[in-house]
Amino acid sequence: MTQRPETTAITSGRDGSGSLAPGLSTSTVWQTGGLDDTARRATGARLSGLYSRYSNPTVAQFEAAVAELEGAESALAFASGMGAIASVVLALCGTGSHVVAQNNVYGATLSFLQGPCRRFGIETTFVDGRVPGSFAAAVQPGRTVLVIAETPSNPRLALTDLSELGTIKGPFTLVDSTMATPLGQRPLDFGVDLVLHSATKGIGGHNDALLGVVAGERDLIDAIWGYSVMHGAVASPHDALNGLRGIRTLAVRTERQHATALHLARGLEAHPRVTSVSHPFLESHPQHSLARAQMRMGGTVIAVEIDGGTEACRRVIDSLRLVRPATSFGGPETLVCHPATSTHAGLSPEELAAMDVTEGLLRISVGLEHPDDLLADIASALDTLG
Ligand SMILES: Cc1ncc(COP(=O)(O)O)c(C=O)c1O
Repeated sequence: MTQRPETTAITSGRDGSGSLAPGLSTSTVWQTGGLDDTARRATGARLSGLYSRYSNPTVAQFEAAVAELEGAESALAFASGMGAIASVVLALCGTGSHVVAQNNVYGATLSFLQGPCRRFGIETTFVDGRVPGSFAAAVQPGRTVLVIAETPSNPRLALTDLSELGTIKGPFTLVDSTMATPLGQRPLDFGVDLVLHSATKGIGGHNDALLGVVAGERDLIDAIWGYSVMHGAVASPHDALNGLRGIRTLAVRTERQHATALHLARGLEAHPRVTSVSHPFLESHPQHSLARAQMRMGGTVIAVEIDGGTEACRRVIDSLRLVRPATSFGGPETLVCHPATSTHAGLSPEELAAMDVTEGLLRISVGLEHPDDLLADIASALDTLG
């Protein structure tokens, strides 16, 4: 019988010791049995029992859990989501490499591709991931090394067709699946090579772990590991512990937050000061049928567009009592952010337009409060606009 992901979130990432909570292995170094034993431990892939930058038992448990949830042979954790993205790109690409990336990726991913990568001679072609065939059309045979998608995208919740990405031959394909969590979708099932998460978000789930992870075939993950131990953005065992604790409750949190997100989205769509609401499982989402085809749940974030631009957003944020202004998502508290002046503040008007990030856009990360309390809070803040 195929085990369901809700159960895998509980059974995966166990060390066989019988301890139900993961053990925290804080040591940076392990004593060996002498020269020959050191040589043995220092040989092969993912060296263990040697030095914590190469591998750590607590981090390994977290990696095993994510690999199983994603249906991957192997996973590798990093000090943050950006640590994961930067390490994957730099592990696979070199001077002269070409990358194809979605134009509405997370702001720091965009800046990384446009800044350091360009400086190192890694050139990126940006495409509109919503347009069928756009990734494949931008691939330059023999030169394109990596195709990067983010679905749903942050903050606009636009989708990329995973089965289309999975059919691209030649370059490696990477999906940043942070906004979906491993409970919401499994990109590897569609033929994609690598799935990546900022586990700082829904996976960790409590705003107390800065963590990233990438999963895929063992050989590919081992190759990325070979680079990442030199890059050094490896995960802390403390954060991996919190990540694994988050995985145990990921299913119930994600289901509840997803249901509340839909409740809020439906309720806010009717408000006179709201011009649009986005959520992949909302019937009005332009890619709703794609969402239903490739996602089990549509995520815990909604994008709300209000009329009146930045000033109206400021008044709404100042009037909220329960919803807190903060720039992350996936935790227990409901958060609001104004991407145009925060997460996306450094981007040009053209880049903001390509991402559909307007001055009237609010991103709401839905938490675990009662849905009706949240709806009442947001609706009354909107009512102050008159
Ligand atoms: C979609 C997405 N990917 C990657 C990241 C980067 O993650 P981190 O902040 O853990 O480096 C973020 C952060 O918000 C994100 O939203």
